[in-house]
Amino acid sequence: MKKEYQDLLDKVKGVADPSLPLVSNLANISSILFELEDVNWAGFYLSNKEYLYLGPFQGEVACTKIPFNKGVCGHAYSTKTTVIVDNVNEFKGHIACSSKSKSEIVTPIFKNNEVIGVIDIDSPIYSRFTKEEQELLEEISKVIGNL
Ligand code: SME
Repeated sequence: MKKEYQDLLDKVKGVADPSLPLVSNLANISSILFELEDVNWAGFYLSNKEYLYLGPFQGEVACTKIPFNKGVCGHAYSTKTTVIVDNVNEFKGHIACSSKSKSEIVTPIFKNNEVIGVIDIDSPIYSRFTKEEQELLEEISKVIGNL
């Protein structure tokens, strides 16, 4: 992992506090994720076992409810894998919360082998996300899952 991302991961580990409610941790982590370059939205959708609902985030107002079978978020949740979309206009079922978003990465968060939600990051440029960001988000997801 490149130094910049290692530093970001360390920063996430630094703020993660298991004595706090999850929402407080996610609020601070969304702020750290929003430091990434060329990102216009960074945050969380959480599962209530019926659908994904909007969690803490940084960026413009976003959709509040995502069915498990819809959108990039629903796809990552259902397949339990990170999904990278280079061009959101070409992803069938993409949910456009902002017309500014052109590419997206979504990583599931596991707790006790169950997906409890996803990390979602949008970029205003195409093909913004690669294996490097995937690795970073999967490490951050582990930190959250251990809270
Ligand atoms: N684009 C997402 C919806 C959430 S917003 O990007 C903040 C999706 O297709 O699931």
